Amino acid sequence: MKSDNMYIVWAHPRSDSLTAQVVKEIQGEAERQGTNVSTLDLYRLGFNPALNVEDEPDWDNPNKQYSPEVHRLFNEMATNDTVVFVFPVWWYGFPAMLKGYLDRVWNNGLAYGGKGFPAKKVQWVALVGGSQEGYVKYGWEKNMTDYLTSAGSYLGIPETKIHYLYNTIGVEEDIVDREKHYQNLFEQARSFVGAA
Ligand SMILES: Cc1cc2nc3c(=O)[nH]c(=O)nc-3n(C[C@H](O)[C@H](O)[C@H](O)COP(=O)(O)O)c2cc1C
Repeated sequence: MKSDNMYIVWAHPRSDSLTAQVVKEIQGEAERQGTNVSTLDLYRLGFNPALNVEDEPDWDNPNKQYSPEVHRLFNEMATNDTVVFVFPVWWYGFPAMLKGYLDRVWNNGLAYGGKGFPAKKVQWVALVGGSQEGYVKYGWEKNMTDYLTSAGSYLGIPETKIHYLYNTIGVEEDIVDREKHYQNLFEQARSFVGAA
C-alpha cells in the first residue's frame, strides 16, 4: 500500500541509539518514496506514560474529555494513513514509555469504542537484542505477533504488519563483520517501508 502520510512513534532514552537510527532509515526511505513523514519522539517530548484518573476510560461515556495532551496527540496521529512504531524489546514487550502511550492516547472513544480507527495501516518494528532462533524457540515472536495482530483486529485496523530486527546487540558469535551486520539491519528496516 502506498502511504501519503506516515507518523512514526518511537521510544528510546538515547537519540543516538540504534532505535533512533532505524527511525531515520525508515523516515528517509519513506520520504524518498514521496511520503510525508512526521515523528513522535516520546522521550524528548517528556511524555508521562502513567495513566492517571483524567485519562482513565469511562466505559459509560465514549465522549469523555481526557487530558488536552491525549486529545492533541490522538488528533495528530489521526491525520495519517500509516502509523509506524519503532521500539527496542524490553522484557519481551514494549518499553513502559510506549505502553503508556497506548494506554493513554489510544483511549476509549478515540482509538476504539468510537468512530473507528483513523489510520489504514499500522506497522510495528521491534528491535530484539537476541537471536531470532531464541525468540522463536521460546514462543516470544509468536506471542508478540499474536498480541499485536489481535489488537489490530480489535481496533478494526485494515492492515497490521509486525517486523522484527534481530541481534541488535550484535554479540552473536556468527556475526563476524559488525559493520556489515548493522548495514544489513538498516537495509531490512528500509525494506519495511511500503511492505504489504
Ligand atoms: C530493560 C531491557 C530489557 C531488555 N529485554 C530484552 C528481551 O526481553 N529480549 C531481547 O532479546 N533483548 C532485550 N533487551 C535488549 C534490547 O532489545 C536491545 O538492547 C535493543 O534492541 C538494542 O537497541 P538500542 O541500541 O536502540 O537500545 C533488553 C534491553 C533492556 C535495556
